[in-house]
Amino acid sequence: MALPGKKVCFITGGSGRLGSEVAFSLAQSGYSVFLTYNKSEEKAEETLNNILSFSPESKMAQCDVSKVPDIEEAFRFFAEHFNRLDLLITSASNFYSTTLPDVTEGEWHSLVDTNLKGTFFTMQAGAKLMTGQPFVSRIITMTDISADLVWKNFTPYTASKTAVQHITKVFAKVFAPKILVNSIAPGTVTINPEWSDGPEDELSKHIPLQRIGEPADIMEAIMFLTRSNYVTGQVITVDGGRILH
Ligand SMILES: NC(=O)c1ccc[n+]([C@@H]2O[C@H](COP(=O)([O-])OP(=O)(O)OC[C@H]3O[C@@H](n4cnc5c(N)ncnc54)[C@H](OP(=O)(O)O)[C@@H]3O)[C@@H](O)[C@H]2O)c1
Repeated sequence: MALPGKKVCFITGGSGRLGSEVAFSLAQSGYSVFLTYNKSEEKAEETLNNILSFSPESKMAQCDVSKVPDIEEAFRFFAEHFNRLDLLITSASNFYSTTLPDVTEGEWHSLVDTNLKGTFFTMQAGAKLMTGQPFVSRIITMTDISADLVWKNFTPYTASKTAVQHITKVFAKVFAPKILVNSIAPGTVTINPEWSDGPEDELSKHIPLQRIGEPADIMEAIMFLTRSNYVTGQVITVDGGRILH
């Protein structure tokens, strides 16, 4: 059950590499955390166990965000345990390369239904709760610098992230002044085997700040957005300047 006065964060993709670090850091900084996962139950449990020492009331739930009934069920379960929602972070996402001429309907569904449809309906469910609360709350979507780049082999992924940046702005406009809605667009934070440009040292040469990102770099942006009262509808790029290259 929510503790009086303690802020609550709902985060999807809490079993992800970056998502789990964000969930843990939020618990460390004083939030009760409700995290969702899809297939990685063990990783979600490990994350929750780490969180419980800071935030014993925290909870987790399985939820395939590409299915709207799953999202509704997760929010029902959330509402049984928590009576406020201060921060929603939509981190659940699929990422893999696709060759444009050969993109299959299945790949499109798994990338776009998770990343875009899942984010949209999670935001919609979160906003329904938030609009009924007597205080300002916040939504942060997790996108990607690739939303602004033209990558040859990731079209459904980059299209989904560009569209999430768009809906971030629409939600910000529709739900102002009650909900502040922003996006964080990381560069590479952890090396993904699917990533095709080369190893970490090679990538660092293309980053003005000469290193790939760390979860702490993303957390700084998240904490800024949790404190700011006058920023909405923005995409904050956290990439060490990579997009300038
Ligand atoms: N890490 C980076 O370098 C980087 C760079 C740019 C942008 N980002 C963005 O930052 C966010 C977090 O990244 P990450 O490193 O944590 O990603 P990740 O390690 O690939 O994890 C992806 C997360 O999304 C969940 N997920 C995938 N499909 C799902 C579905 N259908 N329903 C519900 N959850 C689903 C996964 O859950 P299960 O494993 O439980 O299935 C997992 O928790 C993502 O939005 C990503 O696009 C990350």
